[in-house]
Amino acid sequence: MIGALGPAESLCAVAIVLTGIWYYLVANYSFWKERGILGPEPGLIFGNMKDVLLVRENFGVQLKKICDQFPGAPLIGVYDRRTPVLIVRDPELIKDVMIKDFSTFSERGMPVHDKVEPLSTHLFNLETTRWRPLRSKLSPAFTSGKMKNMFYLILECADYFEEYLNNIVEKGEPIDCREITAKYTTDVIGSCAFGLQMNALADEDSEFRKMGRKFFKMDPKRRVLSLLRSSSPWLYELLGISAMGDDITKFFLSSVKETIDHRMKNNVRRADLIEMLMEIKNHPEKSDFELTDAIIAAQAFVFFIAGFETSSTTISHALMELAQNHDMQERLRQEIIESLEANNGDITYDGVKKLKYLDMVFQETLRLRPPVLLHMRKAMAEYTFRGTNLTIPKGQMIWIPTWEIQQNPEYYPKPTVFDPERFTDEMVKARHPMTYLPFGDGPRNCIGARFGTYQTKLGLIKILSNFKVDMSDKTNIPYVPNPAAFLLEPVGGVHLKFSKIK
Ligand code: HEM
Repeated sequence: MIGALGPAESLCAVAIVLTGIWYYLVANYSFWKERGILGPEPGLIFGNMKDVLLVRENFGVQLKKICDQFPGAPLIGVYDRRTPVLIVRDPELIKDVMIKDFSTFSERGMPVHDKVEPLSTHLFNLETTRWRPLRSKLSPAFTSGKMKNMFYLILECADYFEEYLNNIVEKGEPIDCREITAKYTTDVIGSCAFGLQMNALADEDSEFRKMGRKFFKMDPKRRVLSLLRSSSPWLYELLGISAMGDDITKFFLSSVKETIDHRMKNNVRRADLIEMLMEIKNHPEKSDFELTDAIIAAQAFVFFIAGFETSSTTISHALMELAQNHDMQERLRQEIIESLEANNGDITYDGVKKLKYLDMVFQETLRLRPPVLLHMRKAMAEYTFRGTNLTIPKGQMIWIPTWEIQQNPEYYPKPTVFDPERFTDEMVKARHPMTYLPFGDGPRNCIGARFGTYQTKLGLIKILSNFKVDMSDKTNIPYVPNPAAFLLEPVGGVHLKFSKIK
């Protein structure tokens, strides 16, 4: 076509096309200025996310860097490529979004592709109509009473973890904490959510551990497919290539199906999460949407994915801090040992609950190193923020920058210092509750917070009651967040020296 034109016309045609592309790329970039909202200047194609998209900076860290440029601003406007996104960082406004006006912000705006990615139809991603009934059916599985019933299953895995540690510590080499704790939490979730003995600790080739590792490893192909999924969902659907990987999908679909079939055939009853899913599956009349096998499997899948890495990373982060703070480590060990002695060496659900200093260490670990660095919400209707002139349109994406808030010196003086004393009852009461959000908040908060807390604390109890933990030649200080990781993790991992306590 261009060949039929003269040189001037061809140049003109190229210029028009380029101008059209340029206009498409920058057309939204006045969105925040027009609404009087502060924000950094966006760059072409990447908006304000260049370093994140080029895997040079961690997402949460990038948001903190942006927020630091606008001290005190309650709302900041940024662009994720072409899309305007609002950072909400004022605690009162966060409360409105997460709790008070939840009905307007009940979704995260995550992609759900029933056909291409059947496992994406889980609680974390689902749109409100399917999320609400599922959440209310699954919540009873995580009550304090249910946790108490499941406690023996977690304890079984923790006992096995202790035995495993005794064997590997004998070798005298630095321990790759993230790997061994991920094996422990894989076993816990496997036992509680899938009703299976996964033996990730015993079996180097455990399929579940392999799948877990694979899910969190973003290779270039998955990165490109994920970008395509968020920028052109229709093209993603059309291509039909899953960003998650067919092997992961097939593995989880068949694992859950086999477990349920086995239990039904053999009338197996067990106080675990799969029992809850079976209950839902066996009573489809109580649901107003089709409960396919894929939707059931997707829930077990999200318990696995959301449940093992968050807790194992938290154990590793706590150990990394305690290895640098021996007085805290010793105080915590004493608390644990005294409690064990008072209970004839037994660990009980109520006994763990009473360990106050363990709780303070746990909370401070999640303050300084929250595995999930930001929360997302999507406006389901036009919305005006309280006390402001800002009205956002339906569909507006919101980011709540957890990492930035929990590192803000206004709420946490000397924020980079690990200090469990920040979590005495008095100190907690003195702070705005929205300045501590490792599990999110409101109706869409972490459903597994109690579960994650117990498996993390049990892991720490087993380690600290048996071993002294020190830095090793392979421990990377200062802490540098890995830009390629989904969740917060340090570059180079967490390698520590364990020595057996006599
Ligand atoms: C230390 C451990 C954990 C941390 C730090 C953590 C953190 C989080 C965060 C920040 C969210 C988003 C909350 C929000 O947007 O307000 C979330 C959601 C979720 N988490 Fe966790 N989590 C942990 C353990 C677990 C465990 C053990 C499970 C399951 C067994 C789990 C299952 C889920 C699910 C299903 C959601 C989506 C909830 C919904 O949208 O209804 N998490 N988690």
